[in-house]
Amino acid sequence: MFFFSLKVVKCLKYFVLTKWLGVPNSFFNSLGEWAVITGATDGIGKAYAHEFAKRGLNIVLISRTKEKLIKVAHEIGQATGRKVKTVQVNFTERDIYEHIKENLRGLEIGVLGKCVNNVGMLQTPDPCRFLEMTEVDKTINDMIAVNMVSVAKMTQLVLPRMKERQKGLILNISSGVANAPCPLYCLYASTKVFMERFSRGCQAEYGSKGIIIKCSMPYSVASQMSRVKPGIIAKSAEDYVRSSLDCVLLGDRCHGSLAHEILAYVYGKIPHWITYTDAFLDKMADHVQNCARS
Ligand SMILES: NC(=O)c1ccc[n+]([C@@H]2O[C@H](COP(=O)([O-])OP(=O)(O)OC[C@H]3O[C@@H](n4cnc5c(N)ncnc54)[C@H](OP(=O)(O)O)[C@@H]3O)[C@@H](O)[C@H]2O)c1
Repeated sequence: MFFFSLKVVKCLKYFVLTKWLGVPNSFFNSLGEWAVITGATDGIGKAYAHEFAKRGLNIVLISRTKEKLIKVAHEIGQATGRKVKTVQVNFTERDIYEHIKENLRGLEIGVLGKCVNNVGMLQTPDPCRFLEMTEVDKTINDMIAVNMVSVAKMTQLVLPRMKERQKGLILNISSGVANAPCPLYCLYASTKVFMERFSRGCQAEYGSKGIIIKCSMPYSVASQMSRVKPGIIAKSAEDYVRSSLDCVLLGDRCHGSLAHEILAYVYGKIPHWITYTDAFLDKMADHVQNCARS
């Protein structure tokens, strides 16, 4: 009962601080003129790029497909009048960071976006056991490069300048699946655990230097990757981004929306002896595949 009451108080605090107070635009603007977002041409990353531009920041979009970069840069410029710079890289490659560094030189980077360290990949395309992933070797290498190496290397690039200026915000987009071992997505979920631990460790190291390093852990957000449509639990990327920015000052990690906070609590109560059985996993895999195809 005591712990349940504590959870209720936590939810109320979350509701009051995010829905009523929020975080003013002046806070984001005070951190610096530019926001950098990785994986910025679709889904959550694109929504962060639009939202930061609406809030008055200039944007660096870092992503893979040139045509999509040009299109998103044009849309943001037209809609907000902010400056937009693009950097085309593939995060599966390890030798891209000098190129990114060159492109960031001279900008006053206050916010590194997902990112916002947002870029991420999932195994293709359906949930499956580890050895059933297509091209297991390539998937292991690519997923570690995109989901883990990118976070550490981008942090290495932006943190020194933030440290000098004694301010900055790094938002790392992990996932709710990092809360517990996650069969059928075990490699992906493990990379998201890295992100959460790295983020919180860095926050402990650099919080006293005026830098906020925050880990956001969404469950379901409508996007190409998740293949779900917006609903009560699945947020649209735009809604998720707005609510996650409202809780940027609430601790070193959060799920980024009230619905996802409640979901995390409920999932945490389901015993693993049910969810880790073969029968449950097979049903789960079928269910996710059917939802994605309907
Ligand atoms: N959607 C969810 O339900 C959910 C839940 C929890 C966590 N997340 C996390 O949120 C982040 C964003 O997910 P999303 O659903 O918004 O994904 P998404 O819609 O698939 O968008 C991914 C973005 O990343 C870019 N990208 C992918 N691989 C890349 C690579 N190798 N190099 C450079 N850019 C690359 C894509 O560019 P192209 O379009 O050019 O490929 C695209 O702009 C990920 O880290 C994901 O793990 C998502």
